[in-house]
Amino acid sequence: MYIVLLGPPGAGKGTQAQRLAAATGLVHISTGDMFREHVRNGTELGKVAKSYMDRGELVPDEVTIAMLLERLEQPDAAKGAMFDGYPRNVTQARALDEALAKRGAKIDRALLIEVSDEELVARLGGRWMCRRCGAVYHERNDPPKTPGICDRCGGELYQRDDDKPDVVRARLEKQKPPADLIEYYRERGVLRTVNGEQPLDAVTQALLEAIGPWPSA
Ligand code: AP5
Repeated sequence: MYIVLLGPPGAGKGTQAQRLAAATGLVHISTGDMFREHVRNGTELGKVAKSYMDRGELVPDEVTIAMLLERLEQPDAAKGAMFDGYPRNVTQARALDEALAKRGAKIDRALLIEVSDEELVARLGGRWMCRRCGAVYHERNDPPKTPGICDRCGGELYQRDDDKPDVVRARLEKQKPPADLIEYYRERGVLRTVNGEQPLDAVTQALLEAIGPWPSA
């Protein structure tokens, strides 16, 4: 099964993708996490990506699509995956569909998480992430047991550069899922919309219901 998670910055895509991956066994593929890893490792791709991320803009399609398609070739994505932060537009969606079609697969669900702008600003301002394992916390809504330390792996928590107020404003202006992308998945009959402004467990439950019956192994 191949699933895409759609939603504005801060909607909870990363948080929920980790929970859904644990519940379904699907591998979690986040283009944002992949870019951040390149930035951390100082690669050429990371330098290019950072120049866009720091301005709250999308990284160009040719760079993003090439990176995603290479990731899709890994054995752990052979039978299914949960995409978080990809696709951001119809060009990226088509590239993914073409790659999946070559292996006789398709996107089975596109899950759109809806959250108001006011709540998104509050969430991004209070987000902390683990440098080591990428776990996501919120200082008020979902705090770690010990401030600054990841519950899961003991790694150091940090605040993302692109969560600064001026970059958050740019991301919310430029990075909401475009109407034609939502329509793309609606036309294919796979779009499901979930209210993301509920407690974490309720959102997870709503997403699992939207995915529907899970094929047995
Ligand atoms: P990316 O990392 O994908 O960022 P994003 O889409 O802006 O999404 P976020 O990670 O900010 O938010 P999220 O929806 O995952 O929310 P989270 O679960 O963390 O991309 C970063 C950058 O990389 C982009 O700006 C772009 O430049 C580039 N990029 C990435 N993919 C690209 C692509 N395909 N094409 C081009 N460029 C690309 O939750 C947010 C906070 O809210 C957390 O603190 C969490 O604890 C809290 N929270 C979550 N759910 C709830 C809830 N139900 N109640 C209360 N609090 C909650």
